[in-house]
Amino acid sequence: MRRKIIAANWKMNMTNDEAEGFLETFLLEVGDEKRVDVVLVPSFTTLAKVSEKLSSVQNVKLGAQNMHWEKPGAFTGEISAEMLRELFVRYVVLGHSERRALFGETDAIVNKKTKAALAATMTPIVCIGETLAERDAGQVETVLETQLRGSLADLTPAQIEDLVLAYEPVWAIGTGRTATPQQAQEAHAFIRKTLAAISDDAIAGKVRIQYGGSVKPANTADLMSQPDIDGALVGGASLEPRGFAEIIQATCGTLG
Ligand code: PGA
Repeated sequence: MRRKIIAANWKMNMTNDEAEGFLETFLLEVGDEKRVDVVLVPSFTTLAKVSEKLSSVQNVKLGAQNMHWEKPGAFTGEISAEMLRELFVRYVVLGHSERRALFGETDAIVNKKTKAALAATMTPIVCIGETLAERDAGQVETVLETQLRGSLADLTPAQIEDLVLAYEPVWAIGTGRTATPQQAQEAHAFIRKTLAAISDDAIAGKVRIQYGGSVKPANTADLMSQPDIDGALVGGASLEPRGFAEIIQATCGTLG
């Protein structure tokens, strides 16, 4: 049984004051819920504050939105794994479609970052997903397989077992247009089949695959009930503490 994992990707939002306000409400709402893994992924400038506030909280973990693959050195504007570890960051989102589309991240770059994150004992959340043009052209499976094989190139089966994947159809991100549970399930099943081809059935059965793209409280239960959907990477709806807590509660409601 794969444990569900719900992550809040705050993107380029929230000042430290706003993050503090979020946490005050969110931690009350979420209480000591432990049936799912919960991860907050704030901006770099709010990581230290959120880390400090979570230091006495057991059931909410910290993630970062990006990371450089190199050891500390002359890389102006970049953040190393060591810097994230110092703040007790446990997860790192890699290859988000915004980074791929707006900042030139390729599968080869995502692969280097994934290896560096694993070497630093952080859990990568590796994002893949097709654009609308690719879906309309019938290329969903080709795109997902290429991104998956490229991003996970040369990883050992044990390393693959340690990561989290996020299927985020680009056309569903921030658009209010969610993939139907069936569309998402189909893509997740294909991703798991491809993982089995890259590693083996047992490993593929253990890897958690989040869905991302306009997840909100109202559509959470339907998505999270699908057999191959193991959690959510939530953008817009994660900025509102009560709404994000509702997404977690709706996910718990599907556990039976
Ligand atoms: P969204 O973003 O929930 O605002 O669609 C999801 C994501 O990009 O991770």
